[in-house]
Amino acid sequence: MRRRPRSFCLRTPEPRGASEQGMGTTAETTLALRPLGSSDLRLTAIGFGAWAIGGGDWEFAWGAQEDTNSVRAIERALDLGLNWIDTAAIYGLGHSEEVVARALQASPHTPYVFTKCSMRWNPGDRTIYRALNRRSVREECEDSLRRLRRDTIDLYQVHWPNPESEIEEGWETLAQLQAEGKVRYLGVSNFSVAQMKRVQPIAPITASQPPYSLINAKVEDEVLPFCLENNIGVINYSPMASGLLTGKMTAERIAGMPEDDWRKRSANFKEPKLSRNLRLAALLGEIGQGHGVNAGVVAIAWTLHHPAVTAAIVGARDPGQVDGIMPAMTFRLSEAEYARISDWVRANPA
Ligand SMILES: NC(=O)c1ccc[n+]([C@@H]2O[C@H](COP(=O)([O-])OP(=O)(O)OC[C@H]3O[C@@H](n4cnc5c(N)ncnc54)[C@H](OP(=O)(O)O)[C@@H]3O)[C@@H](O)[C@H]2O)c1
Repeated sequence: MRRRPRSFCLRTPEPRGASEQGMGTTAETTLALRPLGSSDLRLTAIGFGAWAIGGGDWEFAWGAQEDTNSVRAIERALDLGLNWIDTAAIYGLGHSEEVVARALQASPHTPYVFTKCSMRWNPGDRTIYRALNRRSVREECEDSLRRLRRDTIDLYQVHWPNPESEIEEGWETLAQLQAEGKVRYLGVSNFSVAQMKRVQPIAPITASQPPYSLINAKVEDEVLPFCLENNIGVINYSPMASGLLTGKMTAERIAGMPEDDWRKRSANFKEPKLSRNLRLAALLGEIGQGHGVNAGVVAIAWTLHHPAVTAAIVGARDPGQVDGIMPAMTFRLSEAEYARISDWVRANPA
């Protein structure tokens, strides 16, 4: 396997109160920056995932969410040195992008902002559909720029390769938007190797955004080796399995989730898988305890151990959750700890 590209370092001042939150007690914290594929983007090891902060009342919502909490969560993450945000037009049907813009409006920080296209909605009944034709992608890009209040998107990603017959047309349109300066770099999400091979000759893929966690590690077989081999950056999503591996999830919490929290419908949050997944979270918590970090941080670190992974996208809904996950910026597992977790997963298949 090829080694991880050279890291860069960012010296970032420690914000007030950070030492109480487990970010260390020195005056400065050193954060390694990682190049995203062949681009000039340099990412912190974790980025802020803005799905849940899209708010409630749509097909893939996470229940209700206060915008003030979302804005404070983003502010806190940026104050602690995180330098990129991942959102999508579909999160909250445009609302997540608006919240990101609100958080950045008066911010002293200038994080990279990544968003996505291909999932659209009917404004009337809020039903979702997929489109990657030229007209649709252009319209989506303009809408995202307007909601984000920006002139350019740092990484524009095709959210899902659907409709599959339109992926070449969609990718060509992304390349045109890049030539026009509306987007800086192009990414795919949820693409197979065969689908990446279809678009690669049209324009280079800077990054791939696959699901990758201890609960869903399927991309280890083909997608991650392909990205490593082709210098395509990887920003993996749901590294804590959408909250399942934080150490705070319980069967009681799931039972009490609102009807518009998509996790209520997910097999991973139901028996027979749930008990096994919570036992895994307990193991991560036990390992984390020895280092003063929570189970979620260990789950994220397990994904960052793979040499193809550039950085992990981590969701948070308030500043307290941000404080809980920020140690993942620097925390790394020893080889023995990594092997212990991987062995447990092999011995306890889902
Ligand atoms: N491209 C795609 O198709 C795709 C798909 C999924 C995700 N993504 C991206 O990846 C990002 C991250 O994935 P994700 O949001 O699914 O999951 P995740 O990062 O694995 O988990 C995030 C969730 O964990 C809980 N949490 C976070 N910090 C916590 C803490 N300190 N203590 C306790 N609970 C905590 C929160 O949910 P609760 O408090 O509600 O439990 C939070 O929303 C998304 O926001 C999105 O940007 C992309």
